[in-house]
Amino acid sequence: EQGSTVSITVVGASGDLAKKKIFPALFALFYEGCLPQHFTIFGYARSKMSDAELRAMISATLTCRIDKRENCSEKINQFLKRCFYQSGQYNSEDNFSELDKKLKDHEGGKVANRMFYLSVPPNVFIDVARCASRSASSSKGWTRVIVEKPFGRDSESSGELTSGLKEFLTEEQIYRIDHYLGKELVENLSILRFSNLVFEPLWSRQYIRNVQLIFSEDFGTEGRGGYFDNYGIIRDIMQNHLLQILALFAMEPPVSLDAEDIRNEKVKVLRSMRKLQLEDVVVGQYKSHIKGGVHYPGYTDDKTVPNNSLTPTFAAAALFVDNARWDGVPFLMKAGKALHNKLAEIRVQFRHVPGNLYKRSFGMDLDQATNELVIRVQPDEAVYLKINNKVPGLGMRLDRSNLNLLYSDRYSREIPDAYERLLLDAIEGERRLFIRSDELDAAWAIFTPLLKELEERKISPELYPYGSRGPVGAHYLAAKYNVRWGDMSSSEHSKS
Ligand code: BG6
Repeated sequence: EQGSTVSITVVGASGDLAKKKIFPALFALFYEGCLPQHFTIFGYARSKMSDAELRAMISATLTCRIDKRENCSEKINQFLKRCFYQSGQYNSEDNFSELDKKLKDHEGGKVANRMFYLSVPPNVFIDVARCASRSASSSKGWTRVIVEKPFGRDSESSGELTSGLKEFLTEEQIYRIDHYLGKELVENLSILRFSNLVFEPLWSRQYIRNVQLIFSEDFGTEGRGGYFDNYGIIRDIMQNHLLQILALFAMEPPVSLDAEDIRNEKVKVLRSMRKLQLEDVVVGQYKSHIKGGVHYPGYTDDKTVPNNSLTPTFAAAALFVDNARWDGVPFLMKAGKALHNKLAEIRVQFRHVPGNLYKRSFGMDLDQATNELVIRVQPDEAVYLKINNKVPGLGMRLDRSNLNLLYSDRYSREIPDAYERLLLDAIEGERRLFIRSDELDAAWAIFTPLLKELEERKISPELYPYGSRGPVGAHYLAAKYNVRWGDMSSSEHSKS
């Protein structure tokens, strides 16, 4: 709108997330022409800094996409001119009033919409919400607050955080980010399911044997040990990123694409899930390893991690959705740090073809010859389907091949970062990709008893070497449900 303006305040402006993700995403939105004509960006943090210093800090991380390199530095300068800094305490309403004054100067009497991105540690979330709401919310226009995990560490603490925030903000003002929901292929999941005839009819226990949600990183928690040790991989990745993907994967078709309709379905499927049981979980922790003369440190070698830490850096789990569609289908999750590769994917293993005529023509175990749909979220975004195909020639030999939609072959454009999509949606008031509080409660309910039991019984993680494929326990857990991890098979990741 011509007469309105949006002010975006990044609270915790000098933090890692702000530097690496938020400012670059705001800049990308700017040069894509997605930000309103009148906008102002403020960095807010405790340390003293001038506008020029903030600009220097931000500019160090800005880049343009390959296809937009023209005028890149000019665009960067235009963007930086709209960025300002205000120092202040996170719990000082007076300091937020000073921010409010400056915001008003920039807004010049227009209808002023304000967004606060809370890029601060969770122990100050409520303070910032209070100060922003009391001293710096917009009198004409909307005020929204973006928060990102950790949303507590179990049902109780998450509930406290939610009610604390709701003392100062309405649910409509709170935008809870799970950045995996902003990833292109996660968003595409619903399109795949609901706009193609060939998938949705197969999307149930009748045809699907198991579903696998896999996350791995080839680096450890270096530098983040202080945060990580209090959370562990189950809270860091499974309870949010992988569970969100599961909910989108398994939900019933929503009434419409409206945010509330979609989130209603997600809540329903999450509430149909069984609480995770200890016997369905394997935990691991990476230990140091020397490879090619290089020493890779173990998790507890980090100075900010206690030597006797039992915090898992790897976990595998079998989850179940107890409803008519998914009764008995294992949803296997696996997440780990310091593994041999970096990968996030969804694998759907289909059932056997009943009475398969070609049993004898497989050069492989029939169990490995079932169809498998793979949605590779990252890297090398792709959707591919493993099918059985005749090897050309006079004989009758079958072979497993991929019908492959590799994004880099099909689409020439670069895929935007998840934060770009999410920030844009928050500015536009589109809530579809944000977590509603009842969704968050349902997610914690699945994991909280297990997390407590792991901690109370001091379950020791299985150690695995840095850079390995993780603890062998994950293999046994899958075997218990007659499943093989698809990412472990030798034919994988040849990209074909
Ligand atoms: C974050 C986790 O939410 O997601 C990190 O806290 C993890 O531990 C990161 O590294 C992974 O995100 P991405 O987008 O790099 O896959």
